Amino acid sequence: IEELEKIQQQQHAQLFAELPRAVGLFKADLYLYQGSWLPPHILLGAMQLQTHFKHRSTDIFLSSFMKTGTTWLRSLMFTTLNRSRFDFSDHPLLRYGPHGCFPVVDVYQSTGYPIGDSEDLSFPRLFASHFAHNVLPASITDPSSGCKFVYVCRDPKDVVVSLWHFILKLRPKELPPVSFDQVFKAFCEGVTEYGPYWDHVLGFWKAAHESPDKILFFKYEDIKSDPEAHVKKLAEFMGVPISVQEEDNGMVKKIAEFCSFEHLTSLEINKTGFQKITSEYGIPNHAFFRRGEVGDWKSHLTKEMKEQIDRITHDKLKDSGLTI
Ligand code: A3P
Repeated sequence: IEELEKIQQQQHAQLFAELPRAVGLFKADLYLYQGSWLPPHILLGAMQLQTHFKHRSTDIFLSSFMKTGTTWLRSLMFTTLNRSRFDFSDHPLLRYGPHGCFPVVDVYQSTGYPIGDSEDLSFPRLFASHFAHNVLPASITDPSSGCKFVYVCRDPKDVVVSLWHFILKLRPKELPPVSFDQVFKAFCEGVTEYGPYWDHVLGFWKAAHESPDKILFFKYEDIKSDPEAHVKKLAEFMGVPISVQEEDNGMVKKIAEFCSFEHLTSLEINKTGFQKITSEYGIPNHAFFRRGEVGDWKSHLTKEMKEQIDRITHDKLKDSGLTI
Protein backbone atom coordinates (compact mmCIF):
# COMPACT_ATOMS: atom_id res chain seq x y z
CA ILE A 1 0.00 0.00 0.00
CA GLU A 2 2.84 2.37 0.87
CA GLU A 3 4.36 1.71 -2.56
CA LEU A 4 1.02 2.47 -4.23
CA GLU A 5 0.66 5.70 -2.25
CA LYS A 6 4.14 6.75 -3.36
CA ILE A 7 3.30 6.13 -7.03
CA GLN A 8 0.07 8.03 -6.62
CA GLN A 9 1.84 11.01 -5.01
CA GLN A 10 4.33 11.08 -7.87
CA GLN A 11 1.49 11.03 -10.41
CA HIS A 12 -0.24 13.89 -8.60
CA ALA A 13 2.98 15.94 -8.46
CA GLN A 14 3.46 15.43 -12.20
CA LEU A 15 -0.12 16.47 -12.93
CA PHE A 16 0.20 19.66 -10.87
CA ALA A 17 3.51 20.53 -12.53
CA GLU A 18 1.82 20.40 -15.96
CA LEU A 19 -1.23 22.57 -15.18
CA PRO A 20 -1.48 26.40 -15.28
CA ARG A 21 -1.20 27.71 -11.73
CA ALA A 22 -2.36 30.84 -9.85
CA VAL A 23 -2.44 32.13 -6.29
CA GLY A 24 -5.60 31.11 -4.42
CA LEU A 25 -7.45 33.44 -2.07
CA PHE A 26 -7.96 31.08 0.85
CA LYS A 27 -4.61 29.35 1.24
CA ALA A 28 -3.80 26.78 -1.43
CA ASP A 29 -2.72 27.59 -4.98
CA LEU A 30 -5.21 27.09 -7.79
CA TYR A 31 -4.76 24.92 -10.88
CA LEU A 32 -6.67 25.25 -14.12
CA TYR A 33 -8.39 21.93 -14.71
CA GLN A 34 -10.94 21.48 -17.50
CA GLY A 35 -11.65 25.21 -17.51
CA SER A 36 -12.07 25.61 -13.71
CA TRP A 37 -9.58 27.01 -11.18
CA LEU A 38 -9.37 24.43 -8.39
CA PRO A 39 -7.23 23.96 -5.27
CA PRO A 40 -5.32 20.62 -5.16
CA HIS A 41 -7.64 18.65 -2.83
CA ILE A 42 -10.62 19.65 -4.98
CA LEU A 43 -8.88 18.96 -8.28
CA LEU A 44 -8.01 15.47 -7.07
CA GLY A 45 -11.58 15.21 -5.81
CA ALA A 46 -12.81 15.97 -9.34
CA MET A 47 -10.64 13.21 -10.78
CA GLN A 48 -11.78 10.80 -8.11
CA LEU A 49 -15.42 11.65 -8.79
CA GLN A 50 -14.89 11.23 -12.53
CA THR A 51 -13.28 7.82 -12.04
CA HIS A 52 -15.05 6.23 -9.11
CA PHE A 53 -18.48 7.69 -8.49
CA LYS A 54 -21.28 5.15 -8.83
CA HIS A 55 -24.44 7.03 -9.55
CA ARG A 56 -27.98 5.80 -9.09
CA SER A 57 -30.71 6.88 -11.45
CA THR A 58 -32.56 8.48 -8.53
CA ASP A 59 -29.66 10.69 -7.33
CA ILE A 60 -30.33 14.42 -6.96
CA PHE A 61 -27.45 16.91 -6.96
CA LEU A 62 -27.41 20.43 -5.61
CA SER A 63 -25.01 22.32 -7.86
CA SER A 64 -23.86 25.88 -7.27
CA PHE A 65 -20.97 28.28 -7.34
CA MET A 66 -19.63 29.25 -3.91
CA LYS A 67 -21.67 31.88 -2.02
CA THR A 68 -24.76 31.73 -4.21
CA GLY A 69 -27.10 30.21 -1.60
CA THR A 70 -25.91 26.60 -1.28
CA THR A 71 -26.56 26.44 2.46
CA TRP A 72 -30.13 27.65 1.99
CA LEU A 73 -30.82 25.22 -0.87
CA ARG A 74 -29.32 22.34 1.13
CA SER A 75 -31.82 23.07 3.88
CA LEU A 76 -34.76 23.53 1.52
CA MET A 77 -34.05 20.38 -0.51
CA PHE A 78 -33.46 18.14 2.50
CA THR A 79 -36.44 19.44 4.44
CA THR A 80 -38.80 19.32 1.45
CA LEU A 81 -37.76 15.84 0.35
CA ASN A 82 -37.97 14.39 3.87
CA ARG A 83 -40.97 16.29 5.19
CA SER A 84 -42.93 13.11 5.97
CA ARG A 85 -39.98 11.32 7.53
CA PHE A 86 -38.99 13.74 10.27
CA ASP A 87 -40.80 15.72 12.88
CA PHE A 88 -39.83 19.38 12.73
CA SER A 89 -39.17 19.46 16.47
CA ASP A 90 -36.64 16.60 16.27
CA HIS A 91 -35.12 17.15 12.85
CA PRO A 92 -31.66 16.25 11.44
CA LEU A 93 -31.27 19.89 10.35
CA LEU A 94 -31.40 20.90 14.03
CA ARG A 95 -28.82 18.30 15.03
CA TYR A 96 -26.41 18.30 12.07
CA GLY A 97 -26.98 21.65 10.37
CA PRO A 98 -27.42 22.13 6.59
CA HIS A 99 -23.98 20.70 5.79
CA GLY A 100 -24.40 17.62 7.92
CA CYS A 101 -27.64 16.58 6.21
CA PHE A 102 -26.09 15.41 2.94
CA PRO A 103 -22.57 15.00 1.61
CA VAL A 104 -20.47 17.09 -0.73
CA VAL A 105 -18.73 15.13 -3.49
CA ASP A 106 -15.89 17.55 -4.30
CA VAL A 107 -13.20 16.75 -1.75
CA TYR A 108 -10.45 14.18 -2.39
CA GLN A 109 -10.77 11.15 -0.10
CA SER A 110 -7.26 9.92 0.66
CA THR A 111 -8.66 6.86 2.41
CA GLY A 112 -10.55 5.54 -0.60
CA TYR A 113 -13.91 6.46 -1.93
CA PRO A 114 -16.88 5.98 0.32
CA ILE A 115 -19.14 8.57 -1.34
CA GLY A 116 -20.00 6.57 -4.45
CA ASP A 117 -20.88 3.67 -2.20
CA SER A 118 -23.13 5.72 0.01
CA GLU A 119 -25.45 2.78 0.45
CA ASP A 120 -26.53 3.99 3.85
CA LEU A 121 -28.05 7.19 2.49
CA SER A 122 -31.80 7.02 2.04
CA PHE A 123 -33.26 7.24 -1.46
CA PRO A 124 -33.26 9.38 -3.42
CA ARG A 125 -29.72 10.29 -2.37
CA LEU A 126 -28.87 13.98 -2.15
CA PHE A 127 -25.37 15.27 -2.94
CA ALA A 128 -23.92 18.77 -3.12
CA SER A 129 -21.17 20.01 -5.44
CA HIS A 130 -19.58 23.25 -6.57
CA PHE A 131 -18.11 21.65 -9.72
CA ALA A 132 -18.87 23.21 -13.09
CA HIS A 133 -21.21 21.18 -15.31
CA ASN A 134 -18.39 20.03 -17.63
CA VAL A 135 -16.24 18.84 -14.71
CA LEU A 136 -18.95 16.50 -13.43
CA PRO A 137 -18.67 13.04 -15.00
CA ALA A 138 -20.77 12.45 -18.12
CA SER A 139 -22.09 9.32 -16.41
CA ILE A 140 -24.21 11.58 -14.20
CA THR A 141 -24.76 14.67 -16.39
CA ASP A 142 -25.99 12.64 -19.35
CA PRO A 143 -29.79 12.89 -19.15
CA SER A 144 -30.02 9.13 -19.68
CA SER A 145 -28.41 8.65 -16.24
CA GLY A 146 -31.67 9.69 -14.62
CA CYS A 147 -29.78 11.97 -12.19
CA LYS A 148 -31.30 15.36 -11.49
CA PHE A 149 -29.72 18.72 -10.63
CA VAL A 150 -30.93 21.76 -8.77
CA TYR A 151 -28.78 24.75 -9.67
CA VAL A 152 -28.75 28.11 -7.92
CA CYS A 153 -27.06 31.29 -9.17
CA ARG A 154 -26.93 34.83 -7.79
CA ASP A 155 -26.09 38.37 -8.85
CA PRO A 156 -22.28 38.23 -9.26
CA LYS A 157 -21.97 41.56 -7.43
CA ASP A 158 -23.43 39.97 -4.29
CA VAL A 159 -21.41 36.79 -4.86
CA VAL A 160 -18.10 38.66 -4.85
CA VAL A 161 -19.02 40.57 -1.68
CA SER A 162 -20.10 37.38 0.07
CA LEU A 163 -16.92 35.65 -1.12
CA TRP A 164 -14.69 38.38 0.31
CA HIS A 165 -16.29 38.11 3.74
CA PHE A 166 -16.01 34.31 3.61
CA ILE A 167 -12.32 34.53 2.74
CA LEU A 168 -11.72 36.98 5.60
CA LYS A 169 -13.25 34.46 8.00
CA LEU A 170 -11.40 31.43 6.69
CA ARG A 171 -7.99 32.61 5.56
CA PRO A 172 -5.31 31.48 7.99
CA LYS A 173 -4.42 34.30 10.40
CA GLU A 174 -0.69 33.96 9.68
CA LEU A 175 -1.26 35.04 6.05
CA PRO A 176 -1.71 38.73 5.19
CA PRO A 177 -5.41 39.66 4.86
CA VAL A 178 -6.78 40.08 1.33
CA SER A 179 -8.43 43.37 0.39
CA PHE A 180 -11.80 43.63 -1.31
CA ASP A 181 -9.99 45.06 -4.36
CA GLN A 182 -7.86 41.92 -4.64
CA VAL A 183 -10.85 39.61 -4.42
CA PHE A 184 -12.84 41.73 -6.86
CA LYS A 185 -10.02 41.68 -9.41
CA ALA A 186 -9.46 37.93 -9.10
CA PHE A 187 -13.23 37.25 -9.34
CA CYS A 188 -13.58 39.39 -12.48
CA GLU A 189 -10.63 37.57 -14.04
CA GLY A 190 -12.27 34.27 -13.16
CA VAL A 191 -9.33 33.17 -11.05
CA THR A 192 -11.08 32.26 -7.79
CA GLU A 193 -11.96 28.81 -6.42
CA TYR A 194 -14.21 27.02 -9.00
CA GLY A 195 -14.10 30.13 -11.26
CA PRO A 196 -14.81 31.68 -13.68
CA TYR A 197 -18.26 32.36 -12.21
CA TRP A 198 -19.98 33.24 -15.50
CA ASP A 199 -18.85 30.05 -17.26
CA HIS A 200 -20.15 28.05 -14.29
CA VAL A 201 -23.60 29.64 -14.54
CA LEU A 202 -23.71 29.32 -18.33
CA GLY A 203 -22.75 25.64 -18.24
CA PHE A 204 -25.79 24.78 -16.15
CA TRP A 205 -28.06 27.28 -17.90
CA LYS A 206 -27.39 25.68 -21.28
CA ALA A 207 -27.76 22.16 -19.91
CA ALA A 208 -31.02 23.18 -18.21
CA HIS A 209 -32.37 24.33 -21.57
CA GLU A 210 -31.45 21.05 -23.18
CA SER A 211 -32.96 18.97 -20.35
CA PRO A 212 -35.43 21.04 -18.34
CA ASP A 213 -36.82 17.92 -16.67
CA LYS A 214 -33.35 17.07 -15.33
CA ILE A 215 -32.07 20.49 -14.24
CA LEU A 216 -34.03 22.96 -12.15
CA PHE A 217 -32.46 26.42 -12.46
CA PHE A 218 -33.01 28.91 -9.63
CA LYS A 219 -31.85 32.44 -8.86
CA TYR A 220 -31.15 33.42 -5.25
CA GLU A 221 -33.08 36.66 -5.72
CA ASP A 222 -36.20 34.82 -6.95
CA ILE A 223 -36.16 32.49 -3.95
CA LYS A 224 -35.81 35.52 -1.66
CA SER A 225 -38.86 37.17 -3.16
CA ASP A 226 -41.04 34.04 -2.94
CA PRO A 227 -39.57 31.15 -0.93
CA GLU A 228 -42.84 29.23 -0.80
CA ALA A 229 -43.24 29.07 -4.59
CA HIS A 230 -39.72 27.61 -4.74
CA VAL A 231 -40.48 25.00 -2.08
CA LYS A 232 -43.35 23.84 -4.29
CA LYS A 233 -41.14 23.75 -7.39
CA LEU A 234 -38.50 21.77 -5.51
CA ALA A 235 -41.06 19.27 -4.24
CA GLU A 236 -42.48 18.72 -7.71
CA PHE A 237 -39.02 18.39 -9.28
CA MET A 238 -37.75 15.94 -6.66
CA GLY A 239 -40.77 13.73 -7.29
CA VAL A 240 -42.62 14.49 -4.05
CA PRO A 241 -45.20 17.17 -5.01
CA ILE A 242 -47.03 19.04 -2.27
CA SER A 243 -50.55 17.69 -1.91
CA VAL A 244 -53.65 19.87 -1.54
CA GLN A 245 -53.97 18.65 2.02
CA GLU A 246 -50.37 19.59 2.84
CA GLU A 247 -50.90 22.96 1.28
CA ASP A 248 -54.06 23.48 3.38
CA ASN A 249 -52.16 22.43 6.50
CA GLY A 250 -49.49 25.08 5.94
CA MET A 251 -46.66 22.65 5.11
CA VAL A 252 -45.10 24.91 2.45
CA LYS A 253 -44.95 27.86 4.82
CA LYS A 254 -43.57 25.64 7.57
CA ILE A 255 -40.69 24.45 5.33
CA ALA A 256 -39.88 27.99 4.15
CA GLU A 257 -39.78 29.27 7.75
CA PHE A 258 -37.83 26.27 9.00
CA CYS A 259 -35.12 27.03 6.38
CA SER A 260 -35.22 30.81 6.71
CA PHE A 261 -32.07 32.77 7.46
CA GLU A 262 -33.54 33.84 10.81
CA HIS A 263 -34.35 30.29 11.90
CA LEU A 264 -31.10 28.72 10.68
CA THR A 265 -28.92 31.38 12.34
CA SER A 266 -30.79 30.90 15.64
CA LEU A 267 -29.81 27.21 15.84
CA GLU A 268 -27.09 26.16 18.25
CA ILE A 269 -25.56 23.82 15.59
CA ASN A 270 -25.03 26.80 13.30
CA LYS A 271 -23.51 28.92 16.06
CA THR A 272 -21.03 26.39 17.40
CA GLY A 273 -20.93 23.49 14.89
CA PHE A 274 -18.05 22.71 12.56
CA GLN A 275 -17.74 21.06 9.14
CA LYS A 276 -14.76 18.79 8.63
CA ILE A 277 -13.54 19.24 5.03
CA THR A 278 -10.24 17.33 5.10
CA SER A 279 -8.32 15.72 7.96
CA GLU A 280 -6.52 19.03 8.62
CA TYR A 281 -9.13 21.54 7.61
CA GLY A 282 -12.65 22.46 8.68
CA ILE A 283 -15.11 25.34 8.46
CA PRO A 284 -17.20 26.68 11.37
CA ASN A 285 -20.91 26.58 10.44
CA HIS A 286 -21.45 30.24 11.32
CA ALA A 287 -19.13 31.22 8.42
CA PHE A 288 -21.91 30.18 6.00
CA PHE A 289 -24.26 32.86 7.33
CA ARG A 290 -23.73 36.59 7.09
CA ARG A 291 -26.59 38.89 6.03
CA GLY A 292 -28.57 36.80 3.54
CA GLU A 293 -29.78 39.84 1.61
CA VAL A 294 -30.11 40.97 -1.98
CA GLY A 295 -28.08 44.02 -3.02
CA ASP A 296 -25.50 44.21 -0.23
CA TRP A 297 -22.98 44.97 -3.01
CA LYS A 298 -24.18 48.58 -2.86
CA SER A 299 -22.22 49.09 0.35
CA HIS A 300 -19.00 47.61 -1.12
CA LEU A 301 -18.67 48.33 -4.85
CA THR A 302 -17.65 51.67 -6.33
CA LYS A 303 -19.50 52.94 -9.38
CA GLU A 304 -16.59 51.80 -11.58
CA MET A 305 -16.60 48.34 -10.03
CA LYS A 306 -20.34 47.99 -10.58
CA GLU A 307 -19.95 49.03 -14.21
CA GLN A 308 -17.02 46.68 -14.75
CA ILE A 309 -18.78 43.62 -13.39
CA ASP A 310 -22.08 44.44 -15.13
CA ARG A 311 -20.14 44.74 -18.39
CA ILE A 312 -18.59 41.30 -17.94
CA THR A 313 -22.01 39.84 -17.12
CA HIS A 314 -23.54 41.48 -20.17
CA ASP A 315 -20.75 40.32 -22.50
CA LYS A 316 -20.74 36.76 -21.22
CA LEU A 317 -24.51 36.25 -21.08
CA LYS A 318 -25.72 38.37 -23.97
CA ASP A 319 -26.48 35.47 -26.29
CA SER A 320 -27.89 33.19 -23.63
CA GLY A 321 -31.24 34.76 -22.75
CA LEU A 322 -30.21 34.70 -19.08
CA THR A 323 -30.07 37.77 -16.88
CA ILE A 324 -28.50 37.76 -13.42
P1 A3P B 1 -24.16 36.81 2.27
O1 A3P B 1 -22.69 36.69 2.51
O2 A3P B 1 -24.49 37.76 1.16
O3 A3P B 1 -24.93 37.10 3.52
P2 A3P B 1 -23.30 29.60 0.30
O4 A3P B 1 -24.24 28.86 1.20
O5 A3P B 1 -23.43 29.22 -1.14
O6 A3P B 1 -21.92 29.58 0.80
O7 A3P B 1 -23.80 31.13 0.30
C1 A3P B 1 -23.72 31.90 1.46
C2 A3P B 1 -24.62 33.09 1.31
O8 A3P B 1 -25.99 32.68 1.50
C3 A3P B 1 -24.35 34.15 2.37
O9 A3P B 1 -24.68 35.39 1.76
C4 A3P B 1 -25.34 33.74 3.46
O10 A3P B 1 -25.62 34.75 4.39
C5 A3P B 1 -26.55 33.38 2.61
N1 A3P B 1 -27.50 32.49 3.30
C6 A3P B 1 -27.24 31.43 4.10
N2 A3P B 1 -28.37 30.88 4.53
C7 A3P B 1 -29.40 31.60 4.02
C8 A3P B 1 -30.82 31.52 4.12
N3 A3P B 1 -31.41 30.60 4.85
N4 A3P B 1 -31.56 32.44 3.44
C9 A3P B 1 -30.96 33.39 2.68
N5 A3P B 1 -29.61 33.51 2.55
C10 A3P B 1 -28.83 32.63 3.20
